[in-house]
Amino acid sequence: MTSGAPTESAAASAASPTPQRIGVPREIFPGEKRVATVPEAVAKLVKLGFAVVVESGAGELAQLSDADYVEAGASIAPSAADLWSGSDIVFKVRAPTPDEVALMHAGQTLIGFLWPAQNPELMQLLAAKKVTALSIDALPRTLSRAQKMDALTSMAGVSGYRAVVEAANAFGRFFNGQITAAGKVPPAKVFIAGAGVAGLAAIGAAASLGAIVRANDTRAEVADQVVSLGGEFVKVDYEEEGSGGGGYAKVMSEGFQQAQREMYAKQAREVDIIITTALIPGKSAPKLITAEMVKSMKPGSVIVDMAAEQGGNCELTVPGEAVVRHGVTIVGYTDLASRMARQSSTLYGTNLFRLTEELCKTKDGVINVNMEDDAIRGLTVIKNGEITWPAPPIVAALKPPPKPAAAVAAKKGHGHGEASGPMPAGKLAIVAGVTAVLFALVGAYAPAEFLSHFTVFVLACFVGYMVVWNVKPALHTPLMSVTNAISSIIAIGALVQISPIASAAERPNTLIGVLAAVALVLTAINMFGGFAVTQRMLAMFRK
Ligand code: NAI
Repeated sequence: MTSGAPTESAAASAASPTPQRIGVPREIFPGEKRVATVPEAVAKLVKLGFAVVVESGAGELAQLSDADYVEAGASIAPSAADLWSGSDIVFKVRAPTPDEVALMHAGQTLIGFLWPAQNPELMQLLAAKKVTALSIDALPRTLSRAQKMDALTSMAGVSGYRAVVEAANAFGRFFNGQITAAGKVPPAKVFIAGAGVAGLAAIGAAASLGAIVRANDTRAEVADQVVSLGGEFVKVDYEEEGSGGGGYAKVMSEGFQQAQREMYAKQAREVDIIITTALIPGKSAPKLITAEMVKSMKPGSVIVDMAAEQGGNCELTVPGEAVVRHGVTIVGYTDLASRMARQSSTLYGTNLFRLTEELCKTKDGVINVNMEDDAIRGLTVIKNGEITWPAPPIVAALKPPPKPAAAVAAKKGHGHGEASGPMPAGKLAIVAGVTAVLFALVGAYAPAEFLSHFTVFVLACFVGYMVVWNVKPALHTPLMSVTNAISSIIAIGALVQISPIASAAERPNTLIGVLAAVALVLTAINMFGGFAVTQRMLAMFRK
């Protein structure tokens, strides 16, 4: 407990633990406008049993007043010194400065973007203070359970959106094409390099403004996501797998890079705006846009280089600044998330609230940094003064269980079977043999008319099997509803049975007529319902 926390009798604290105090200081990094929590999150933290104290003015640059925080249940600390000394847990956005670390005390817990690999001195300072430090950037992002706490993703999403806003601001034309009385305006062409979290957010934002959006990434698996957000995936004309594991890219071969440079040079000549987001973690940003390419762009074009802080994807980027080179505005801002402070603070505050929920499963206002929990272990970089970073890799979560060798060999050995359906050739031969014997028996003993119906039935089963198994799982539901509708051919049978054109001798009796009518009603529901569901499903895939 902290010096600032109220003291209670031993008996009372045994019955229910004293709630811990979460402190939120004002960010002091120059130009930083974000704040680590927002009133909506404060209310939820209070519900979880915590007391929340916010430094006076902490939310001012994110348009959040002290009164907003008080209304949500927080108290206000008049100074940074009061806040740090009176908190058990401190929520921050940026890593603390040495002056801030000096205000910390043993047993305190710090949560924020600490970037342990880039800040070894900070790690030593914090360890010497005997604190516990949780670095939100070290969260194992591959754990699906961790997504709600993934602040890197939330910040990259906001930044990708803001990159488009910055580009639109510097670009002197509409994004969407327009036909006006004064003439025709063509839509802007936007090229996005790197389709990770920020790139995909930029694709969505630019497409929704009406631009023609193209994107490229070394990881081919993102192509579908690019298309689903309204972009066109532009491939590099060179075969090489770009995935380096864990959803990140790898450094590509010289041959690939050459082919990529040629493609980028062509795009630079054609498009109006380039937004670059390409990065491989732990490496400096790949140089994708050369000075020559900038020169070849149309005057008035814009480049937003999101990787500016890691050296930039463009040779002419000046980190932190917007400059004009060869008539092209090159934006190298490194604080895009902070430029949308209210939005990013809200998302970050929610990420930290979700993390606090994981730390306080007992909902009694006391956290437990459980090192057995993969997500918590991953982001705990210092535990009670002991440096615990880096966490061991979560092998089970990253690797799918290996397939038995026999299964892999069978799949590889039967190219035809693999291409035409899930049934391997051996199995197919057995099915064909059994079917042939069945036909011989039916042909020998059953009436000739039955054989022809039976042939149609077997062929229908075969065609249905091949159709269904070759369809992607995502399309199974619309496929099912459409086959549902088609299978309603049964309606024709029912119509024949109750048809008045049948001769008197063949006219069905009343029971058959009633059954046929019931079948017709049910089939009609099946038919129209099937088409309606298919229509709704397909509408979800359309823009
Ligand atoms: P991410 O790791 O999700 O995405 C990077 C993408 O670049 C990956 O899809 C990767 O496959 C791709 N890539 C790597 N090398 C490539 C190459 N040679 N050619 C084409 N694609 C390549 O990263 P995220 O979160 O989307 O961030 C993107 C960039 O934006 C990073 O540099 C990050 O530091 C930066 N960023 C900048 C901010 C700012 O204020 N300027 C704020 C947030 C992020």
